[in-house]
Amino acid sequence: MKTIHTLAVGAALAAAVSQAQAAEIEVLHWWTSGGEAKAANMLKQKLEAKGHTWKDFAVAGGGGDSAMTVLKSRAISGNPPAVAQIKGPLIQEWGEMGFLGNIDKIAEQENWDSFLTPQLAADDKVEGHYAAVPVNIHRINWLWANPEVLDKAGIEGLPTTWDEFFADAEKIREAGFIPLAHGGQPWQDATVFEVVMMGIGGGEFYRRAFVDLDPEALTSDTMVESLKTFKKLRGTMDQNIAGRDWNQATSMVINGEAAMQIMGDWAKGEFTAAGLTAGEDYLCEAAPMTEHMFSYNVDSFVMFEVDDAGKKQAQLDLASLILSKDFQATFNKTKGSIPVRLDVPLDDFDSCAKDSRKAFDAASEGDGLVPSLAHGMAVSASVQGAVFDVITNFFNDPEMTAETAAERLASAVRAAG
Ligand code: BGC
Repeated sequence: MKTIHTLAVGAALAAAVSQAQAAEIEVLHWWTSGGEAKAANMLKQKLEAKGHTWKDFAVAGGGGDSAMTVLKSRAISGNPPAVAQIKGPLIQEWGEMGFLGNIDKIAEQENWDSFLTPQLAADDKVEGHYAAVPVNIHRINWLWANPEVLDKAGIEGLPTTWDEFFADAEKIREAGFIPLAHGGQPWQDATVFEVVMMGIGGGEFYRRAFVDLDPEALTSDTMVESLKTFKKLRGTMDQNIAGRDWNQATSMVINGEAAMQIMGDWAKGEFTAAGLTAGEDYLCEAAPMTEHMFSYNVDSFVMFEVDDAGKKQAQLDLASLILSKDFQATFNKTKGSIPVRLDVPLDDFDSCAKDSRKAFDAASEGDGLVPSLAHGMAVSASVQGAVFDVITNFFNDPEMTAETAAERLASAVRAAG
C-alpha cells in the first residue's frame, strides 16, 4: 500500500514539475512547401507531445533569404524567437553577436560528439559550446526527372555529361516538353551554378573558388567554362522562370510539363508528398559530372538565449528529440534528406536516400565532400550575397560575357569579404 501511495505521489510530483516547465517557444523556419510543411509539422507535434507549445513563425521563401531578413529585424528590435533555423557560418555570426544560448547540458548527456561528424559538430558550436542542433543532411547536386517525359522524347537514362544533357534537351524540346524546370530567383540560380561548377572543376577547385575565395580560381578558365555552361542552360528552360518558386518548378516535373530539375533533395519531399515512388514515378541521379561529389547543406535549429526556465527546458527537449534515432528516421524520409546521425540505418528509406548516403561516404573518402555556397554552408552571408548578385545578373544579361562575370565575381567577393 505504502509503495503504491509513494509511487502515486511521485508521479503527481513529476507531472507537476513537467507542467511547471512546459512552455511556449516560438520557432522560426522557412519550411512552407507541401513536403517541407509536413516535415515541420512532425517536429511541432513531437514537441507538443512533450507538453510544450510550438508557436509557428514560418517565413515563406525557399532558401531562407526572407526568413533571415525577418530574423534580423526581430533580433534588432530586442525580440528574437527562442529557436530559429540558421545554417553554417551564419550560426557563428549570431553567436559572436551574443544572441545564442548554450545547450551543452543535453549534448553532453546524450554524447552528441560520439555520433556527429567533427565538421557537423563544429558548425553547431560557438566557441566550443553547442548552441544549435543539426537535423538533416541535404545533397544539392541532384538531377530529378520524369521518366515518362524522357520516354516520350526517346531518351534512355539520365545524362552524365553536359554534352549529353544538351543533346537530350533538344530531343525533349522536339517532343514538346520543357527540358529543364527552373525558378529564376538568385538562390536557385546559384544552386544550379554551383552544381555546374563543381562538376566541371571538381572538389579541389570548388573549395579554392567557393571556400577559400581564391581570386585565381574565381577568374580561371575553369570558372569561365562553368559560367558558359551555366548560361547555356537558360536555353533549356521556359520563358516564365522569373520569380518562380522552386516547388512550382518541381511540380512542372511531377505533372509532366518539364523533364528535369536541378535542385537539392528537398525536391524529393515534394515527390514524396505527391505520393510518388523513387525509381519508378520519378528518377534521381547525380547532376552531370558530379557523381563523385556531395555538396552538403545541413539545416540546424539554433537556440537563442532565453531567461525563462520553462523555455530553456523546451529548447533542450526540442534538441533532444531532433537527434533521437526515431525522429531522424521518420523526419528525413519526409524531408528528402538523410539523417545527420550516421548510425541511423537507411534500410527502409527510398533508393535516392540510399544513393545519397553512398555518395556521402564516397565523397568523404575522396575530395568530393564540399559545403554548398548557395545554401549558406561555405562563406559569410555578405560574400554569399555578393556571389548571388553576380551569378543572377550574368544569367539574366544576354550581353554579359563569362569572362566579365568571372572578373566581377572576384571583385565582388573581395569587396564583400
Ligand atoms: C534548406 C532546405 C529547404 C530549401 C528550400 C534550403 O536552404 O536547407 O531545408 O527545404 O532551402 O526552401
